[in-house]
Amino acid sequence: MKRLILSLTLIISIALTRADEGMWIPLLLEQLNEKEMQDLGFKLTAEDIYSINHSSMKDGIVIFGRGCTAEIVSDQGLILTNHHCGYGAIQRHSSLEQDYLTDGFWAMSREEELPNPGLTVTFLVRMEDVTEKMLEGITADMTEAERSDKLKENKDTIEAEAIEGTHYQARVKPFYYGNEFYIFITETYKDVRLVGAPPSNIGKFGGDTDNWMWPRHTGDFSVFRIYADSNNQPAKYSENNIPFTPKYHFPINIQGVEEDDFTFVFGYPGSTQQYIPACRIEHISEVVNPIRINFRHQRLDIIKSYIDRDDLVRLQYASKSAGIANGWKKWIGENKGIERTKVIAEKQAEEKAFTQWAEADSDRKKQFGGIIDAFNQLYAEISPLEEEMVLMSESAFGVEILRYARSFSSLVRLCENKEIPDEEITEGIDKLKKAAISNFKNYHQALDRKIFIAMISAYITHADPAYRPAELEIIDKKFDGNVSDYADYVFENSIMASEASVNEFLDNFKRKKYKKILQDPAYTLATAFADKYNKDMWPILNKYYAEDDSLQRIYMKGLMEFLPEKRFYPDANFTLRVTYGKVKGYQPRDAVTYKHYTTLEGIMEKENPDIYDYVVEDKLKDLYESKDYGRYADKDGSMHVCFTATNHTSGGNSGSPLLNDKGELLGINFDRCWEGTMSDIVYDPAQCRNISIDIRYCLFIIDKYAGAGHLVEEMTIIE
Ligand code: ARG
Ligand code: GLU
Repeated sequence: MKRLILSLTLIISIALTRADEGMWIPLLLEQLNEKEMQDLGFKLTAEDIYSINHSSMKDGIVIFGRGCTAEIVSDQGLILTNHHCGYGAIQRHSSLEQDYLTDGFWAMSREEELPNPGLTVTFLVRMEDVTEKMLEGITADMTEAERSDKLKENKDTIEAEAIEGTHYQARVKPFYYGNEFYIFITETYKDVRLVGAPPSNIGKFGGDTDNWMWPRHTGDFSVFRIYADSNNQPAKYSENNIPFTPKYHFPINIQGVEEDDFTFVFGYPGSTQQYIPACRIEHISEVVNPIRINFRHQRLDIIKSYIDRDDLVRLQYASKSAGIANGWKKWIGENKGIERTKVIAEKQAEEKAFTQWAEADSDRKKQFGGIIDAFNQLYAEISPLEEEMVLMSESAFGVEILRYARSFSSLVRLCENKEIPDEEITEGIDKLKKAAISNFKNYHQALDRKIFIAMISAYITHADPAYRPAELEIIDKKFDGNVSDYADYVFENSIMASEASVNEFLDNFKRKKYKKILQDPAYTLATAFADKYNKDMWPILNKYYAEDDSLQRIYMKGLMEFLPEKRFYPDANFTLRVTYGKVKGYQPRDAVTYKHYTTLEGIMEKENPDIYDYVVEDKLKDLYESKDYGRYADKDGSMHVCFTATNHTSGGNSGSPLLNDKGELLGINFDRCWEGTMSDIVYDPAQCRNISIDIRYCLFIIDKYAGAGHLVEEMTIIE
């Protein structure tokens, strides 16, 4: 018994949430965090951050596009986000002749601001706890399926009621694995224009080499503006739209950042898994991550070999390769962090103590007994299947021609159905024509053929034959097992391999011709993979996931009872969160200490005109030589570029404001340090750091480098 008590105290002390850890719900700050935040230095109140009674900081935060955050910095709808968040938009306006990605872009007047069809920003109007309403009619004796049907029904009603008679959107989202539910009422603006972007040599300085790393010197920001109709309401792009007048915009503090200053980040972290069992972490680090890392490594090597010798390919594949590399590098860091923190052993010990606690009481035993065993059993079944699915998605679905070929299935479906009128088919063709333009704008066939060979070979080597699509047998039967010959056959015979053949096919399309798609070698292979994945594997995995969800829900409830002292925060789910901490450096390894900030000196140290990632623009060098930093210089006279802090952030927090004790903007969050990327699973206060661009460097680039001081004039600057 004494032993049990001892180990429990140990576990509890390990498990208690540390001050810097946690992504907190704005609605609950007052109750859960306000006091601690103030003790750490916060000078305002929770009500200043989130209020439904008056304007508050939440009215200055938006979801930018589909996966980033941005903040409003002027009373004329000007917003800041990351360069890598605006990247797609900047790329879409770029060509070899007019290359904004490389050279940067600055609108010197409102007329020059560039529209971006499809790009939206979304405000949170309000959120509410709807747990009780969601659980109405849910009983303990329901099966999981009955429970989930009832939840769906309740969700639909609650969402519909919440937005009746408004132009808002509503979404109920589960928290703590479905132990609680919150509704989010949102408002989306659809006219968002590009205002400014630094050249990639600044906005992506260090490229994928420095990505996820400290010390960092990336000017990762871009500037956009929200437009609205004459009533300040959301409207589609129109020349008549005017700059949006926000309820709130963030003042910008250029007094500088000191170590140990209180900071908080307000934004949209995407997804974390803080409460998964040890066996799931084991599965991620030993099965899932190694496949992803290995396959992406191969794809990246191939892309790099083409990018290095062809500038057009560089432009075409810049965004694609950044996306592939970003995950690749993060998972490498995540695996190292999982190993270093020994989180698996730590969780196993916690699970053991949890089981003992559950077994010690008959009521608890009924609810939570055996849950860890159930997880272990379930993962023994999930793991091999998920492995096959990850293999497939990282290999076959990484081949561009196969992904593209799938888009023709919509036309097949239309043609197969005799009831569909010809007009609809014409519409379908028009859509495919448009899609062809954007697909081939950024497509290099020789490169994709190499990836095809590498990925299909890797798939065949690693995949369990039981899951392999039968279509692949053709390689042995017709091509003597030679994947390269098979690739030649696919690329030479597929309509989808070139823009010319796609256009020729679509221009002369007649209903009956859809059979040609069904015989197309790229289409048949893509469909074979997709069918295996979607029809054979996904339904089984989905059933397992439903079981996993219900185990997680019960386990989460149990954990909260088991550790009553602990302040739990819900896993990130791309809803608005506050995370707070301090400006801090760290010690990545023995004998090495990192300062919390970098300067322009470091950019000059890294400069290398022969390495793409480390080219420094002449203009920036001139400013550096003349130390012409104006009011953006630090007290020490240097130009600070980036800094680190202990805020617990995740993917989706890109572009989030990093704020000081008075809610003034000090920086824009854009990354995490490599040693801390396991913080989606386990947070280590010694190693987990978020990285922000110092707002003074951002303004210096806008004002001194780009000569767009009129934008700074719009902002509220605190000197
Ligand atoms: N690692 C950052 C984030 O997850 C930045 C990614 C963009 N930058 C890059 N070099 N790929 O999204
Ligand atoms: N770069 C990430 C993003 O795009 C933020 C870094 C992180 O994962 O914390 O959201």
